[in-house]
Amino acid sequence: MRNSGFLLKVLWLVLCQAAAGSWGQANITSMLAPQADRVMALAEWEERWQEDRIGFHQPHVHTMLENNIDKVLAGRAEVRFFFPLCGKAVDMKWLADMGHSVVGVEISEKAIKQFFEENNMTYNEEPVPAIPGVKVFKSSERNISLYQCDLYNFSSSIEGQFGAIWDRGSLVAINPRDREKYAALIISLMAKDCRYLLDTLLYNPELYEGPPFLVPNEQVNSLFGNSCDIELLSSLDALTERHRGWGLDYLTENVHLITPKSI
Ligand SMILES: C[S@@+](CC[C@H](N)C(=O)[O-])C[C@H]1O[C@@H](n2cnc3c(N)ncnc32)[C@H](O)[C@@H]1O
Repeated sequence: MRNSGFLLKVLWLVLCQAAAGSWGQANITSMLAPQADRVMALAEWEERWQEDRIGFHQPHVHTMLENNIDKVLAGRAEVRFFFPLCGKAVDMKWLADMGHSVVGVEISEKAIKQFFEENNMTYNEEPVPAIPGVKVFKSSERNISLYQCDLYNFSSSIEGQFGAIWDRGSLVAINPRDREKYAALIISLMAKDCRYLLDTLLYNPELYEGPPFLVPNEQVNSLFGNSCDIELLSSLDALTERHRGWGLDYLTENVHLITPKSI
């Protein structure tokens, strides 16, 4: 009998936690509702590249990467970086110039060719036997390999796992309904010592349809929290005239450092 009070307490705690969990999930679902069904086809991304509608591209190294590079490297040299949805980010050259290697995945051939040409690099084009119809573009001077394919055709069987990932304009750019699939792929690409720097955006999704899409911190936790530790490194006001032009009244840029939980 003495134990029954204790058992009731445990049961109560378990029920409270389950209720908090499902409330949290319901809360995330309602936050994401306005953009949940938004789909951007690969052809639309290609169209943007063809028409030079690439306002997301920055001609300089991304401040959030530069500010947090020590935390990503954690004293390591010659780190293997993965860039999902890499575009022609100059960050790839910056890291390669420091002696790291870079593997990127990008659907647009124009983006990949522009990356090499604008950075004065020569490159070779090779087929990828493991993914029929896909090509990899390799720099002749630096350790940079860019796969031209749909991200979801890429896997650790192609290039193994990575010591670092820089995710800017990637989780926020994929279709919201694909986020679980995306997170599972990213987790499978993380080596045990991987340090994954993730850039996300908070804004009112009633005001702008995206991309980039809203990714609340609660969802970062639900996507990666089971297998990884997550640290919010910075949270900054990022609203500019460009974003006001989209109709936004606030925009917060969050940077997370995600590392596999040690077992
Ligand atoms: C918002 S841009 C960001 C590019 C880059 N990360 C940057 O910060 O400049 C997203 C890029 O992903 C590419 N893309 C979109 N969906 C893709 C997919 N499923 N697989 C591969 N590339 C994709 C687009 O062509 C575009 O260049």
